[in-house]
Amino acid sequence: MDTQEYARRRRALMRMMGEDAIAILPAAPHAVRNRDVEYPYRQDSDLLYLTGFPEPEAVAVLVPGRDHGEFVLFTRERDPEREVWNGRRAGIDGAIERWGTDDAFPIGDIDDILPGLIEGRSRVFCTMGRYADFDRRVMQWVNDVRGRARSGGHAPNEFIALDYFLHDMRLFKSRDELRAMRRAAKISMTAHERALKTCRPGLPEYALEAEFWHEFRRNGAEPAYGLIVGGGRNACVLHYVENADTLRDGDLVLIDAGCESDGYAADITRTFPVNGRFTDAQRAVYDIVLEAQRAALARCEPGRHWNQPHEAALRVLTQGMVDLGLLAGPADARIEDESYKRFFMHRTGHWLGMDVHDVGDYKVDGDWRELEPGMCLTIEPGLYIPAADDVPVHLHDIGVRIEDDLLITKDGSENLTDGLPKAADDIEAMMRG
Ligand code: GLY
Ligand code: MN
Ligand code: MN
Repeated sequence: MDTQEYARRRRALMRMMGEDAIAILPAAPHAVRNRDVEYPYRQDSDLLYLTGFPEPEAVAVLVPGRDHGEFVLFTRERDPEREVWNGRRAGIDGAIERWGTDDAFPIGDIDDILPGLIEGRSRVFCTMGRYADFDRRVMQWVNDVRGRARSGGHAPNEFIALDYFLHDMRLFKSRDELRAMRRAAKISMTAHERALKTCRPGLPEYALEAEFWHEFRRNGAEPAYGLIVGGGRNACVLHYVENADTLRDGDLVLIDAGCESDGYAADITRTFPVNGRFTDAQRAVYDIVLEAQRAALARCEPGRHWNQPHEAALRVLTQGMVDLGLLAGPADARIEDESYKRFFMHRTGHWLGMDVHDVGDYKVDGDWRELEPGMCLTIEPGLYIPAADDVPVHLHDIGVRIEDDLLITKDGSENLTDGLPKAADDIEAMMRG
């Protein structure tokens, strides 16, 4: 993403905030994996969206109209000895030269400097409730300003959740963002194809997962979330990430796997037979989910509201449950009493972007939000039928989900993950090679 794009975003946010305000955004903290080992660092999405700055232990501050520059960054200083161990840092000069900050200070000086930036501003925009420690520090800085107010300074009197403006901006993807999302989608689709061609009975689920890691990493991408490779009954566990069983002849395998590239996620699910041939029962369930997905996709267009694709998918899925003998009809009554939730317990999608479950409101003033060009969402109906005494035996342990990533356009929508085989016949054909 080029630095102009970040500058444009900051300008847009500051216009909405008004001159009398300040925004304060922290970098994500490190996450400890065990003892002195950390997970690979992932920057906070809001900070990343506004700055592109990838380092931990940083705080970005936007001060509209400030004479010495509106974009201030507190960050780690250069430290040759530490950098030998833990990697290079931009430092103060790098923050200005490389990341387009107007002013940069050592993170260790923040308590001395930030209250002075807050002073004279009426409103503080910050991400509340995400990092408890940071929330406390913001309070402390504001209290410092209040202390000074007794000697004539002016302390803010309003805290505003930054989400309100920022997350609405993030909901609408720019051309640069869509380029990143298309790339993430393309890499993820290639990885799914690899898995489809590699799959065979006897393979451990993690070996199929490895195909994704290989394809993601060779493209400089990484998993956008915990990859799910669930054979047989594991497909009925929605967040199955152990991927530790052996794939069995005659079972389906459900793979929910997408990568993050340049900070943007893809989120794709495909379900296919381990041995390359659907049984009649598997195909019956599969075709219902596919029809549900088609019904939902057809309702992804401007002017429809957020819930309409879900309602369309739900109708097809519930009718399918009745036809399969899982529920007694009529379908309308089963939707009404919500008994369908036994076999379809999640919603049909979510916003997609920097976070796999991306930010953005689903309702506005109590009503479902209208779909508008530039929004990205997933469409992912499923049917999950774990073995149970009151379920026909031939349907036991069949779990199917089909998930694609959609961009709402002026005229309808674009399927960013189109091109992976989805019809049962096409899947079988590709698996035959
Ligand atoms: N992979 C997470 C989801 O589909 O929502
Ligand atoms: Mn999803
Ligand atoms: Mn998914």
